[in-house]
Amino acid sequence: MKKIILTLLIAFGVLSMAVAKEFTAPNDDFVLIKGGTFTMGSPENEDWRSNDETQHKVTVSSFYMCKYEVTQKLYSEVTCKNPSNFKGDTLPVESITWLEAVEFCNALSKRDGRTPVYIINDGGRTVSWNRSADGYRLPTEAEWEYAARAGSTTPFYSKRVPGSDNVNFYGHYPYQIEQNYFNDSVLETGPGVYRGQTLPVGSFDPNPNGLYDIYGNVGEWCFDFYGDYGTGAAENPFGASAGTRRVNRGGGWNDFGKNLRSAYRAAAEQNTPLYNVGIRLVCNADDSVKGLVTTTETKTTAGSSVKKALIIYYSWGGNTRGVAKEIAKQTGYDSIELELVKPYSKNYSTVLNEAQRDQHKQARPELKTKIDKAKWAEYDTIILGYPNWWASIPMPIATLLESYDFTGKRIMPFCSHGGGRFGQSLTAIAKLAPNAKLGEGLSIHYSGGPSLPKDVAKWLSASGIKTK
Ligand SMILES: Cc1cc2nc3c(=O)[nH]c(=O)nc-3n(C[C@H](O)[C@H](O)[C@H](O)COP(=O)(O)O)c2cc1C
Repeated sequence: MKKIILTLLIAFGVLSMAVAKEFTAPNDDFVLIKGGTFTMGSPENEDWRSNDETQHKVTVSSFYMCKYEVTQKLYSEVTCKNPSNFKGDTLPVESITWLEAVEFCNALSKRDGRTPVYIINDGGRTVSWNRSADGYRLPTEAEWEYAARAGSTTPFYSKRVPGSDNVNFYGHYPYQIEQNYFNDSVLETGPGVYRGQTLPVGSFDPNPNGLYDIYGNVGEWCFDFYGDYGTGAAENPFGASAGTRRVNRGGGWNDFGKNLRSAYRAAAEQNTPLYNVGIRLVCNADDSVKGLVTTTETKTTAGSSVKKALIIYYSWGGNTRGVAKEIAKQTGYDSIELELVKPYSKNYSTVLNEAQRDQHKQARPELKTKIDKAKWAEYDTIILGYPNWWASIPMPIATLLESYDFTGKRIMPFCSHGGGRFGQSLTAIAKLAPNAKLGEGLSIHYSGGPSLPKDVAKWLSASGIKTK
């Protein structure tokens, strides 16, 4: 008899270990994303891909994902705060940092009687994730892409390229507009309206998984630190255990079509609020994935006070130069304008084409300007200026970022633009200078007009920089 009871007990123990505890969906707004294996990343022939999108096989377990981005109503109910740039109860919350996003997940879990997922220590530098908890959390990058793709292997979940009629993005610039700017009738999805702001969540049809606004409206913070996600097969990956930037996915209201692609990876410091990035909640469907994942932000050695600063910029038409001159006038800092061995054409139509060609192939145009390495080492702050080119940095800036050591330096970006403000240029800088601290940026519309001195002064003062 004793033997039978013991056998039964062992069998029960083994069974309860093997059978995962199932969780219920928090409410009807959550859909079950059934686990499976997919190819993460983009094929080498995908137009406008970046080289950080290496294809590899990934398996993810089932999880629940909210159909909608978190609204300002929910965010303010839970936190009593609403930092959003565009205000409205049904609009997605934005301008929240990654840390605020994970704190929100925990607060909502507590409110709803679920186990908080994150353990936040050291002012947010160390964040651990209890993988078997039933609380709300951010998706991993892999979960996000798996849910967005909904089985597709094309750049977008639908064969038809997104347009303003079904996605809230920088509708003037649909996918592949760059190389067809003067001949956009060849595009299947042509330019449409640019709304210049967020829209109520769920304004358009969802993707095949039932997820609304998975592209556009706001980008969505993911758990992972940004980094090389490798080429080997992976199961429930969660990114590096240490890093300097966190990933966000899906693009926002002011992003170009190319940056809505399912494989596109944006990255920003975890304590930087972005007016085009918000939250989409997920939670576990069961407790089959276990363990504690601890991630630590690698602190750059850069401080927030300036010992010696250099203004360095590229300007094609003179607007960035004008901003740089104003900064130099107010601070007295050294200033260098980047020159190229083979300058771009002076003709506007030609340079549009040359710039997209160079961006397309991630060219690194040779710089005529050389900076003495010993002198470079003396600067702790680099005030980096450039025009917005095709929603990113001009490639000469990429050459600069790769040619000099930015480790431990603070970069203060300033960008002259024609309406797109920074576009994805800050992500481009973050990726090329992973060991620099990215300070608050200044975006200036064309030459900045009469308010330029005031705008520059305000930015310098907010960045703790003394003026003359
Ligand atoms: C090749 C090229 C691409 C551009 N792409 C964008 C863009 O994507 N978004 C935007 O807002 N402005 C864009 N512009 C406009 C410039 O950012 C704007 O005119 C800026 O003031 C130019 O600065 P600069 O005079 O220092 O060159 C582009 C201009 C050029 C020449």
